[in-house]
Amino acid sequence: MEVIIRPTTEEAVRLTAELIADAIRQKPFFKLGLATGATMEAVYADLAEMNKAGRVDFSRVHTFNLDEYIGLPPEDPNSYRYYMNKHLFSKINIDMRNTNLPDGLAGDEIAEGLRYEEAIEDAGGIDLQLLGIGNDGHIGFNEPISSLGSRTRAKALTPATYAQNSVYFNPPESMPKRAFTMGVGTILDAERIVMLITGAKKAGIAAKAIEGPVTSMVTGSAIQLHPNTVVILDEAAAAELT
Ligand code: F6R
Repeated sequence: MEVIIRPTTEEAVRLTAELIADAIRQKPFFKLGLATGATMEAVYADLAEMNKAGRVDFSRVHTFNLDEYIGLPPEDPNSYRYYMNKHLFSKINIDMRNTNLPDGLAGDEIAEGLRYEEAIEDAGGIDLQLLGIGNDGHIGFNEPISSLGSRTRAKALTPATYAQNSVYFNPPESMPKRAFTMGVGTILDAERIVMLITGAKKAGIAAKAIEGPVTSMVTGSAIQLHPNTVVILDEAAAAELT
């Protein structure tokens, strides 16, 4: 695993966006795995700016997001489809038909997990998976005690995730209690993983994921098992690395 520490959040974000843009330039028919959340907003702003400046072309890029809340329609401002349209897809030259997220309204949850896995497989797998990490160590919504071999499925969210994300909901109690998420196994199948961790609040969990034991209690630690992983941190998030 390669660990890169940048002095500021802006520099860590910029490097993440540059890595993604470089990879797309090398292979224009690119399958990009995407994450949502506060950390990624600046990455998408940088990618949109690079696209506008003609520095990266998304016209042949296919995307697969990690997760989606169960029960939220795409037009709900808290759905991850809405987030992606707002922060990235509406600002770049991507063909919307090539953008994929689990369907939060899918009636048959087991079938939806299988459909999503098949869609990734039919596309030839993910070239680069972008990851953040939750306060409880989750990647995607693979909460503690998720199997490290898990595939896309419905998952109940933990109180820690509820506390982290319900602030975006009005009222907070309207946050769904479950989500579809790619599994840890699905994530580890990606050709390359790029994880971005910023801010002092993530310093403890960053150290656990990068240097702690590989454990299903911190699913982010599973990236240690992947042969082609880079973790980019700002100095604040790197503070507890030894
Ligand atoms: C969301 C996702 C999550 C987030 C994590 C960090 O698609 O994959 O694992 O990356 O919850 O979220 P922020 O960046 O809001 O701290």
